[in-house]
Amino acid sequence: MRQGERRDLRRLQRGAGVSGAGAWIKERLPIEAESLRELTNEPVPNHLKRWWFALGGTPAYLFAVQVATGILLAVYYQPAPTTAYESVRYITEQAAYGWLLRGLHRWGATLMIAAVILHQIRVFFTGAYRKPRELNWMVGMCLLIATLMLGFTGYCLVYEQLSYWGAVVGANIAGSVPFLGGFVKQMLLGGDGYNEHTLPRFFILHAAVLPVALTLLIVVHIGIIRLLGVTELRFADEPKDKPKHFNFFPDHLLSELIIGLVLTIVLTTLACIVPATLGAKADPLTTPEVIKPEWFFYVAFRWLKLFSGTVAVLSTGLIVFVMFAWPFIDAWLRRRTRFAEASVWIGIFGALLIIGLTIWEAAVAH
Ligand code: HEM
Repeated sequence: MRQGERRDLRRLQRGAGVSGAGAWIKERLPIEAESLRELTNEPVPNHLKRWWFALGGTPAYLFAVQVATGILLAVYYQPAPTTAYESVRYITEQAAYGWLLRGLHRWGATLMIAAVILHQIRVFFTGAYRKPRELNWMVGMCLLIATLMLGFTGYCLVYEQLSYWGAVVGANIAGSVPFLGGFVKQMLLGGDGYNEHTLPRFFILHAAVLPVALTLLIVVHIGIIRLLGVTELRFADEPKDKPKHFNFFPDHLLSELIIGLVLTIVLTTLACIVPATLGAKADPLTTPEVIKPEWFFYVAFRWLKLFSGTVAVLSTGLIVFVMFAWPFIDAWLRRRTRFAEASVWIGIFGALLIIGLTIWEAAVAH
């Protein structure tokens, strides 16, 4: 390009509002604003203006909080039985804002699990898992399991009495699964019982394997939503002549940012008012009188206590299988039987059972 032409091009770019830096970037990343707008501007059905129906964004935001606070906690955390407890004590009592980071991470976990469960309940009761969204329901089930596993492994890292005995009980439950159980238990503990390899394994699962798995699953989940769109729902109070959709960008993104802001305030308040505590240090020689998992495992724990070993584990496996296959079971019920709306009653029964077993486990010592 001759000097005169180069000057003309610069004048043209200036006329079009493209600065020197902008032109430099544009030459290297030739992305048109129009195509970017088209890519992000998916029309979103009006019902997603209500938070209950757009709950999926909440665990996604909380997951980002968990990654950020988790990386900062990992700066001081030392995953070995001899050092873990002291390093958590150091974070809580001495590291700058360590107590706040721990509080945010703890409450972030609780709220994330609650949000995933509420989102699943919303998807279930609106029948949003039905054809053609069956696969995304199953991806969602993997998200649920990965989120619960993150909660469990995180709890074990503190090396309190309940972290230690929770890990032992969890590994024993895994060990009682027919065929694969022994292998899974060995892999989890790095031996037949809890030993010096166990805590590093839990840490790798908690800080690397599960977050990467969750990230990939969220990408697939959102990718499928982008391909199929969300289920169209219309409320009785919506005027018929109103447009049925609004723009993802900037409208929906702005609502998500506001929800994120509110969640940040809620999280910080909770972390300050009810900070993360530290119980007694793990003592492998003294079994505590009462062993309790975190609240989100109360239901499974109570179930396992109600039945004997193998029956309990097999029935839990069957329930998880039914949950995975639910879109197909529901389709069969709707096609082949008179119970087209059975899912609502089964859902209500399931929810009451979960709430009942959780309260039961919370209320009694054993
Ligand atoms: C980390 C966990 C999860 C994240 C970040 C997430 C994210 C999202 C988002 C952003 C949406 C769009 C609509 C909305 O906000 O409700 C959505 C929809 C959906 N999710 Fe999730 N989700 C998660 C877990 C789950 C679980 C546990 C299930 C069920 C087992 C599930 C099943 C679905 C289905 C079927 C849809 C489509 C809903 C429709 O068409 O209206 N998701 N998810």
